[in-house]
Amino acid sequence: MTDIREAAEAAAEILLNGGYVERWVEGAIFPCEMAFFIAVCSLAGVDRVIESGRQDGYSTEILGDWASQNGRQIASVDLEHDAARAAACRQRLAHLPIQLVKGSAYEEFGRLARDGVGRRLALITDGPKGWPAISMMAAATDDRVQVVALHNLNPGTGGRELFERLGGQQSFHEAALKDPGPRWRELKAREIAFAGDTAARSLETSSLGVLRLDDTNRSLLRNAWRSEFGLHQPVMVRALWQLGAYAAATKLYGLSYRLLRR
Ligand SMILES: C[S@@+](CC[C@H](N)C(=O)[O-])C[C@H]1O[C@@H](n2cnc3c(N)ncnc32)[C@H](O)[C@@H]1O
Repeated sequence: MTDIREAAEAAAEILLNGGYVERWVEGAIFPCEMAFFIAVCSLAGVDRVIESGRQDGYSTEILGDWASQNGRQIASVDLEHDAARAAACRQRLAHLPIQLVKGSAYEEFGRLARDGVGRRLALITDGPKGWPAISMMAAATDDRVQVVALHNLNPGTGGRELFERLGGQQSFHEAALKDPGPRWRELKAREIAFAGDTAARSLETSSLGVLRLDDTNRSLLRNAWRSEFGLHQPVMVRALWQLGAYAAATKLYGLSYRLLRR
């Protein structure tokens, strides 16, 4: 696979074949957004995805489906605060080879990113959101991390600006796929037909930023130091993880919010 158009065609095929468009639920990442993430991961040769925020398992099932076709690995973290919902989600995903983790991503992302599994990693977060999610993924970024993705990067937000500065406009699928192939166009048409009238978010402007990393932007992300991070600067979070103080990382995010509202 050589370019994003071709990779997007293969990814769209997975979503169309799996009937995922008609199973989309409000709150979940849109089908085209997930297809774009899979396409970028395929191009980048990713062999392990670490996800935070699975809720009912919509995005996780798509990742597991993609991974099971070629031996890639998926780990997925969620707080699982609603026990009944979590149990239903686990049942939905039981047929797929996914490592399901219950806990706070502020510590579990550290454990998973540091456990040595996988040679080329992708990180995707859809809870927590915003700057805490960005600092968490920046802290988890080492030389193996090839792709970083975050949901709900709406136009006008600082997080979206950061993704566009580090990865260009093509961090979002509308800009990356200016002349998409037939399978992508079919996926987009079905997405609009299914969710166009009801979805709370715009189907025209995607909000899943997918950042492909190279040596330059990986270093900028990893070493980012911003006022928006408050106390949870990536270097601080990483230092706690390196010390094995995983639970303290969650406390750092909580303290930052209480003291600085960040
Ligand atoms: C919008 S839902 C995820 C939807 C899912 N990605 C999909 O597309 O189907 C957000 C999820 O993030 C989880 N979450 C929020 N903060 C978290 C944290 N700090 N650690 C782990 N999970 C978290 C919530 O429990 C919730 O299930």
